[in-house]
Amino acid sequence: MNYKGYRIQMADYSPLEFSRAPHPAPMPLAERNAALANPGFGTVFSDHMVTIDYVDGLGWHNARLGPREPISLDPATAVLHYAQEIFEGLKAYRLADGGTALFRPDRNAHRFNSSAERLAMPHIPEEMFIGAVRELVMADSDWFPSVEGGSLYIRPFAFASEPFLGVRPAKEYKFLVIASPAGNYFKSGAPAVSIWVSSDYTRAAPGGTGAAKCGGNYAASLVPQAEAIAHGHDQVVFLDAAERKYIEELGGMNLFFVFDDGSLITPPLSGTILPGITRDSLITLAREEGLSVHEQRYSLEEWREDARSGRLVEAFACGTAAVVTPVGHVAGHDGEFTIGSGGPGQLTTKLREKLVGIQRGTVPDTHGWVLRLD
Ligand SMILES: Cc1ncc(COP(=O)(O)O)c(C=O)c1O
Repeated sequence: MNYKGYRIQMADYSPLEFSRAPHPAPMPLAERNAALANPGFGTVFSDHMVTIDYVDGLGWHNARLGPREPISLDPATAVLHYAQEIFEGLKAYRLADGGTALFRPDRNAHRFNSSAERLAMPHIPEEMFIGAVRELVMADSDWFPSVEGGSLYIRPFAFASEPFLGVRPAKEYKFLVIASPAGNYFKSGAPAVSIWVSSDYTRAAPGGTGAAKCGGNYAASLVPQAEAIAHGHDQVVFLDAAERKYIEELGGMNLFFVFDDGSLITPPLSGTILPGITRDSLITLAREEGLSVHEQRYSLEEWREDARSGRLVEAFACGTAAVVTPVGHVAGHDGEFTIGSGGPGQLTTKLREKLVGIQRGTVPDTHGWVLRLD
């Protein structure tokens, strides 16, 4: 396939045979149970990982499940210099009936491939992506946290592994999947977050990589996120790079605005924001509730004015990690304002409960979003 001048090799896919080497010394039970009782987010990892190699001409090969271990890289490995890297984030859930499931993993596979295209990387067949996730979840099925609302966070990623200094797409890649037990973001009472509007920095410009899930986007968000924290807020919100007027998204979550007439607005997928799977699911669920959801631009000015007049009754952020997070307070160099009561709103709570219920198997999955693994 030709992509903007680069020849990207489509992997010749026939379902890959996995070789399996169980960990010879998995984490001792007492240590694992302690980790699972208080997993936090992103600090504890399960025993295994999946690795699949890619070489131009050969395609994806050597699929293996093995012990989670460090990877050794040549200092000239392309990703360390030119950041040709993409990733995904999804959760495996324990269902109410004890089974294990993924939520819309086909959408993660699809987005992974959109990111791959933007970063001039080879496609990964959807079956291979989901198959690799399944391998890991099945191998580490003892790694589901015991805490309520816990899940196994899955991180598939791919990077340019060719030792080569020069700016061109690499000829070798690795695809890995690791897993990390994750606790509930909402401990009790679902606190609302306070967000800081970045006026000095933007996240993504038209034509850039905003719609791709590549590490570089997150590296660039660290300074504005640190600025938000330094000002006493939880998260940064970015404005559009062209006019510095319209709300885009948070560093790692999409945004929704809820109005007193029952309508919702969420910023459109214009190429500068990540097409969130939670965002897409919530649009569907809100429309099923009879609400009208508009994917349209919404300015900071409108946000401030609508919060002041009371037309805006709720705002919430959404993403895989935190599911749905109410936004209570907004601040920036031009002053600050509160949304509604400053706490979680009714619709925010209702949509969150419905989505979590579908993910956990307590609310019927009428959309075929839940993929059972056992
Ligand atoms: C920048 C950004 N926006 C939005 C999202 C939400 O996407 P999703 O709902 O697919 O997790 C994420 C998280 O993946 C993100 O990193």
